[in-house]
Amino acid sequence: MQPKHPSESRTIMTDMVLPSETNPLNNLFGGELLARMDRAASIAARRHSRRITVTASVNHVAFNQSVPVGSVVTVDAAVSRAFRTSMEVYIDVWMEDRFSGERSKANEAIYTFVAVDEMGRPTEVPPLAPETGLEKERYDGALRRKQLSLVLAGKMKPDEATELKALFT
Ligand SMILES: CC(C)(COP(=O)(O)OP(=O)(O)OC[C@H]1O[C@@H](n2cnc3c(N)ncnc32)[C@H](O)[C@@H]1OP(=O)(O)O)[C@@H](O)C(=O)NCCC(=O)NCCS
Repeated sequence: MQPKHPSESRTIMTDMVLPSETNPLNNLFGGELLARMDRAASIAARRHSRRITVTASVNHVAFNQSVPVGSVVTVDAAVSRAFRTSMEVYIDVWMEDRFSGERSKANEAIYTFVAVDEMGRPTEVPPLAPETGLEKERYDGALRRKQLSLVLAGKMKPDEATELKALFT
């Protein structure tokens, strides 16, 4: 299969925060942001694989900054590494202040998707060829994150997580 670049899967979704999507402090409800990230990441995984994709795991979510009602939120997702049937998707979330227009990084997250056939069986995806410095950095860390996710899910023995172990030795 021909390698694809992260720019080919990049998915940018912009929307504002409505009062019905907030918590009692009038900030964006975490579950609403998770849903927006899942949707953008799912489109990115489909653009890379051109297959049906399912969310296999949410590996990392950092709610670093609250997002007030009325903010404009941009979810920016792209495949950061493709393995045999799974893809890591890196998501950056930006928010734009409704009064000043100032843009700041609100959150980031890392999701794993698996391409499947009509019967739900995992199926191969094209490899990823990173281009920019940031894309290469994310690509390089992805195997370590995959191993951590598999260990936490009980699908890999810690002893087999060679890339992860190398961090501590
Ligand atoms: C995701 C799913 C297809 C994986 O099935 P499986 O039987 O574990 O399949 P495999 O063991 O062949 O794994 C397939 C790939 O997923 C990866 N994977 C599975 N679980 C993972 C996890 N927790 N974290 C990271 N990667 C994972 C495997 O490493 C493998 O990757 P590779 O082929 O690129 O090396 C299956 O668990 C599923 O359908 N889950 C439900 C998905 C869903 O409904 N999501 C929406 C939730 S509401």
